[in-house]
Amino acid sequence: MRYDGTVVFVTGGAGFIGSAVIRHFLDHTGAFVVNIDKLTYASNRCSIPQAAGHPRYAFAELDICNENGLRALFECYRPAAVMNLAAESHVDRSIDGPGEFIQTNIVGTFTLLQESLHYWRSLMSARSEAFRFLHVSTDEVYGSLGASGLFTEATAYAPNSPYSASKASSDHLVRAYHETYGLDTTVTNCSNNYGPYQFPEKLIPLTIVNILLGKPLPVYGDGLQVRDWLHVEDHCAAITLALRSGRPGEVYNVGGNSETTNMEIVRTLCGLVDEALGARAELRAAFPNSPAVQAMPSVGLITHVRDRLGHDRRYAIDYAKAAAELGYAPARDLAMGLRATLDWYLANTRWWQALLGRDYADWLEKNYKR
Ligand code: NAD
Ligand code: TYD
Repeated sequence: MRYDGTVVFVTGGAGFIGSAVIRHFLDHTGAFVVNIDKLTYASNRCSIPQAAGHPRYAFAELDICNENGLRALFECYRPAAVMNLAAESHVDRSIDGPGEFIQTNIVGTFTLLQESLHYWRSLMSARSEAFRFLHVSTDEVYGSLGASGLFTEATAYAPNSPYSASKASSDHLVRAYHETYGLDTTVTNCSNNYGPYQFPEKLIPLTIVNILLGKPLPVYGDGLQVRDWLHVEDHCAAITLALRSGRPGEVYNVGGNSETTNMEIVRTLCGLVDEALGARAELRAAFPNSPAVQAMPSVGLITHVRDRLGHDRRYAIDYAKAAAELGYAPARDLAMGLRATLDWYLANTRWWQALLGRDYADWLEKNYKR
């Protein structure tokens, strides 16, 4: 691939999507990866099992708002590309406390752009022509859809949450650095990711973990909001393609072809967990509080709670541009992806059980009382 034998910076590489990107780079490319991560509550260095002792991996514990720290990393490693995935990523937390979102998502992206520009301007022509800044963003910047229609790259930005507003702002900064300074940037806007190693505050892993622990499953409002679900490995494939062959200054939407209501997701997971526990005695022994142990259906745990403030009703993606220009197509359908994700959470209980500390319990408690 284009970046074999070069250094690639991945910010937020200890998070859900960043760690998947790094696992992909270590397993399937010849690039040297520098993971730049502040290690917030959402991070987990165990999410890259192959990193320990890997000859093409380095870790830097750093806030992307730290310009001196970034400058030192650029001087030391002289990367051929930067992939920006560091972010505060959870909408509910942005509603409770937007400050960190402004700081990391806007000021952090700005600082990273400034340091990338400074470094890029110092490069000799061949290297400077090859340098690329890829920014990973979300479909939430486009706001909310009615019952029909899809977000395209031409849809006007209309972010509704502090999270999406902070991401929209960062996207505009990235665009401006291309238009004003000529930095080679690409932005990808994707739908809701799911898959292994996702922190259990997001809908899918939270539902799996809560069913296993026999806790209520909070469904916001009527649960008929629609999201498009994208398996994280399909997302990795898309951003790797965009890094390799996206056109400078362009934006690519990335979708998963899997529009579904939240209720359908929760109900499907209930059925899948009941089936797995019904069939396997060792799982019933490991999760004695799960309803399936008493032969009760897990859907009984569904609890409607107060709706999220400013809750977007529907997201849906038109990814025709990424398909035509990058050759992107999602490889996994939702039914298959949910089953595989559940299997991963059942086989990796230690990974998620280590996260269920006091902070997490407080956060869940607050969510039930919405
Ligand atoms: P995540 O919350 O799982 O991980 C974010 C990572 O960034 C963590 O490891 C955290 O420690 C790190 N980080 C946070 N602030 C930092 C800072 N100031 N400096 C350095 N590191 C910092 O997020 P994710 O789900 O992996 O999302 C990655 C990117 O993809 C984000 O930009 C997010 O907006 C975007 N995105 C996510 C989804 C999704 O469904 N998860 C959908 C669309 C877009
Ligand atoms: P989430 O996973 O937080 O992703 P996003 O807000 O980025 O779309 O939420 C997905 C959908 O599920 C969203 O419509 C909110 C809803 N939701 C619930 O109903 N209950 C929950 O406990 C959570 C976390 C989310």
